[in-house]
Amino acid sequence: MSLKRIGFLMTAAALFLSGCGGSRDNADAAKGAEATKPTHKLVVGFAQTGAESAWRAANTNSMKSEAEKRGIELKFADGQGKQENQIRALRSFVAQGVDAIVVAPIVETGWDPVLREAKRAGIPVVIMDRKVQTEDESLYACFIGSDFYKEGALAAEWLAKNSNGKTKIVELQGTPGSAAANERRKAFGDAIATNSAFKIIDSQSGDFRRSGGKEVMEAFLKKHGREIEIVYAHNDDMALGAVQAIEEAGLKPGVDILIVSIDAIKEGVQAVVDGKINVVVECNPLFGPKIYDTIAKLKAGQTVERSSYNVDEVIDASNAAALIGQRQY
Ligand code: AHR
Repeated sequence: MSLKRIGFLMTAAALFLSGCGGSRDNADAAKGAEATKPTHKLVVGFAQTGAESAWRAANTNSMKSEAEKRGIELKFADGQGKQENQIRALRSFVAQGVDAIVVAPIVETGWDPVLREAKRAGIPVVIMDRKVQTEDESLYACFIGSDFYKEGALAAEWLAKNSNGKTKIVELQGTPGSAAANERRKAFGDAIATNSAFKIIDSQSGDFRRSGGKEVMEAFLKKHGREIEIVYAHNDDMALGAVQAIEEAGLKPGVDILIVSIDAIKEGVQAVVDGKINVVVECNPLFGPKIYDTIAKLKAGQTVERSSYNVDEVIDASNAAALIGQRQY
């Protein structure tokens, strides 16, 4: 080995040894900095269905504003009404290693593979608003939402007491395959089946949209004319679309045709005050605080309720005017 080479190796070794000492000092400094560094900001991925209704807009707003209030980083994905978009968003949240995932599932089925991926990655998933059907309940941490079956049953119960001899019903269904549409339809149908006076003469989906409700109602009016006595709408946006179609047909919504709906958005309650919708069954979308409280518990290793539901009320001409001032959505 040449002297030049030996000299080079000795210099390199000396530099390495001084570097070791230096890195110990650096490590001590880093430890000190670590102690004063703010704790890790919670990162939550939220896969929303889309923006089909005023209810949905209020739900998105509740999730975003509450995250901001609590200093949580919210990664928001708009599913634009398609399950495949939501699945893609969930996969991307898993790849990014978020702390928790919240999903409002557009439809009930088809979630197991992606939920399994989240579980394998150790990321808790909170199912919000609409339930999923799964072969393995352990694939998600918990459900926070509304009791859609109860809402449909309450709508039918109100009708049984207040229909004033009107019996022929058209139904405006929500998004096909969604838990909200499935359960509201089933509950209402079950209750109506116990009363032979009532008859559902037609039923179509308006996709929870105002435009959908209006278009389907126009088609119903063309097909059934004055035979229609009652509209059962799975949400207020479709009910408000139906109100427009009924008025354009020269009829009086709420009088010529009774309107029964679900959600109780401010505009829906106002329509009850105005006598254009007869009853709205509440479905509260303001889940933000409950969702983040639950995620905090999950991250702290605490047990949470498997399913928890909002308590909702029935709003008709007897209480709408008193409640309209306090509506938050
Ligand atoms: O899943 C809840 C339903 O979805 C609401 O009733 C409706 O307005 C929304 O779009």
